Amino acid sequence: MKIAISSDHGGNNLRKEIVNLLNELGIEYKDFGPQTDDSVDYPDYAQPVAEGVANGEFDKGILICGTGIGMSISANKVKGIRCALVHDVFSAKATREHNDSNVLAMGERVIGPGLAKEIARTWLTTDFEGGRHENRVQKISALEN
Ligand code: RB5
Repeated sequence: MKIAISSDHGGNNLRKEIVNLLNELGIEYKDFGPQTDDSVDYPDYAQPVAEGVANGEFDKGILICGTGIGMSISANKVKGIRCALVHDVFSAKATREHNDSNVLAMGERVIGPGLAKEIARTWLTTDFEGGRHENRVQKISALEN
């Protein structure tokens, strides 16, 4: 599994925590930054992650900003992306099983690093259930056309 990850300035600290988790789990990743704490625009950092997942270069993406909202809205503009904004472990599991979400968004100003790491761990290790959910995910894709 290869992961793309980025944040804006509001998510820098949590991104570093999640990068530590990816290292702990031995998961390959590319960190798209930012490399400084300067104020940046979240769509600029959502774009390479979302496009990298959509074009198959990466299996999944993780995006972090202050709330996770700007990142999730931006990522979901890219065709093929199903980005889920998640701040609890139940939803992390459900969105993989039911929605086959391929990008996870979280807000550094909303939850602490301990919960965020549990969410990311759950999301990364839960498979899509398929079955009755397959048709629903296909209908999401149909909305893009
Ligand atoms: C940046 O101040 C903040 O707006 C951003 O991190 C995010 O919360 C946007 O949705």
